[in-house]
Amino acid sequence: MNIMTVKKRKAYELEIIDLAFGGKGLAKPDGFPVFIDRVIPGDIVFAKIIKKKKSWAEGKLIKILKESSFRKQGKCQYCNYCGGCKWQSIGYDLQLEYKKKHVTDSLQHIGGLKDITVKDVIPSDNIYEYRNKMEFSCSIKRWLLPLELENDEIKKDFGIGLHVPGTFDKVIDIKQCEIMPDLGNHILEDVRNFIKASGLLAYHLRTHEGFWRFLMLRHSVAFDTWMVNIVTTYKQMDVVADLAAVLTQKYPQIESVMNNITDAKSGVSAGKEEICLYGEDHIKEKLGKFMFKISANSFFQTNTRSCEKLYSTVSEYAALTGKEVVIDLYSGTGTIPVWLSDQAKMVYGIEIVKSAVADAKQNAMLNGIENCEFLEGDIKDVLPRLKQIPDVMIIDPPRVGMHKEVVQQVLSICPEKIVYVSCNPATLARDLEMLYPKYDIKEIQPIDMFPHTYHIESVALLLKR
Ligand SMILES: C[S@@+](CC[C@H](N)C(=O)[O-])C[C@H]1O[C@@H](n2cnc3c(N)ncnc32)[C@H](O)[C@@H]1O
Repeated sequence: MNIMTVKKRKAYELEIIDLAFGGKGLAKPDGFPVFIDRVIPGDIVFAKIIKKKKSWAEGKLIKILKESSFRKQGKCQYCNYCGGCKWQSIGYDLQLEYKKKHVTDSLQHIGGLKDITVKDVIPSDNIYEYRNKMEFSCSIKRWLLPLELENDEIKKDFGIGLHVPGTFDKVIDIKQCEIMPDLGNHILEDVRNFIKASGLLAYHLRTHEGFWRFLMLRHSVAFDTWMVNIVTTYKQMDVVADLAAVLTQKYPQIESVMNNITDAKSGVSAGKEEICLYGEDHIKEKLGKFMFKISANSFFQTNTRSCEKLYSTVSEYAALTGKEVVIDLYSGTGTIPVWLSDQAKMVYGIEIVKSAVADAKQNAMLNGIENCEFLEGDIKDVLPRLKQIPDVMIIDPPRVGMHKEVVQQVLSICPEKIVYVSCNPATLARDLEMLYPKYDIKEIQPIDMFPHTYHIESVALLLKR
């Protein structure tokens, strides 16, 4: 028998047979799982084993020996290097099939939940130019693409773009990002040229020196307007005001220019201080008939049109008649409570981030809504104090899912209906397993908010047994 036991630091010819959750390709020489990034089912590859554990290994792609018949030419010139959207070489229909499979597999393997109805994924209308927010990092270490390595004239001392996976300080100097609306690329180019000519350096995460940190762009689909948020280490008004003037004179679509200032050593872009350099400190967006103000650091779903489909699915599952009390856990800037406000008697939102709660109250006011109330704090502390008995509970936790204590609180309140919104099939499966003793999982509707990535949003309908 020819048993191939893979060894660390050795390279092998492997056939990719599946895509695992997390987006990596899977090969199984003699049944032993080897995960490899940036490959797709049907590829025959030469890969080096870089990590080996008892029951699995990780390989690094060295060469594709034979391309899968499923391979498509990715639109983006950086797609083989950038960490942004690694699935561009997979046709969109196949991406959707794998996303659905990842939801079903997670339910089975992580939650032990078999025979749950998982519907076909609702696709994103746009598979390019769909993101309403992009954040580009500035770095004094530009990572060069293989073709750029041959060009001696290219300087490596500045780049603005997206990180190379596995490096914390190197960025690809992105000229054209295909997943944001194209005007963003023109703004990015002008910011790049301005920074290069400014004489000020990009921030360095190790030495903590330098001025320019991030460029964040937000786009409003409904109004086709933009917010430019320049994140710097310290205050230097003359420089950033000049940049704001250059941009706003050229692009009438820019409605807001913000300067977030932070010397925090972590890579976060939210400033300790925020200055409005031009226009207002927010942009407006519409979801359905509702208007929302989005400030630089507010959370807002990044695919506006898919977000409407997500919230429509929440409405459909909640099936409200106007008489119900609804509690929305993890309510962010109040978008779900606002969306449901005219279908319910009262909607309560609970959210931990103070500025998000302030935004939620403003958003309700902006739409003339009086039956939404927003409570600030950690859900595990706030929920027990809320004496309302909800008919329906909406739960939309972050990627890590629900806190165990919150699951217990929900089980003891035990509303008739739960609509669980998830951006992570693994924690969805884990949390549904805990809710399962008291709830029937009627069905799950996956919705694609993130084409060309392995990420998938899902909405689950749970009915009390
Ligand atoms: C996935 S977002 C959902 C936002 C909102 N439902 C939407 O669609 O825009 C999760 C939200 O949970 C909030 N959050 C995270 N942990 C929390 C906690 N322990 N208590 C309350 N809110 C929390 C985050 O600040 C974030 O706004």
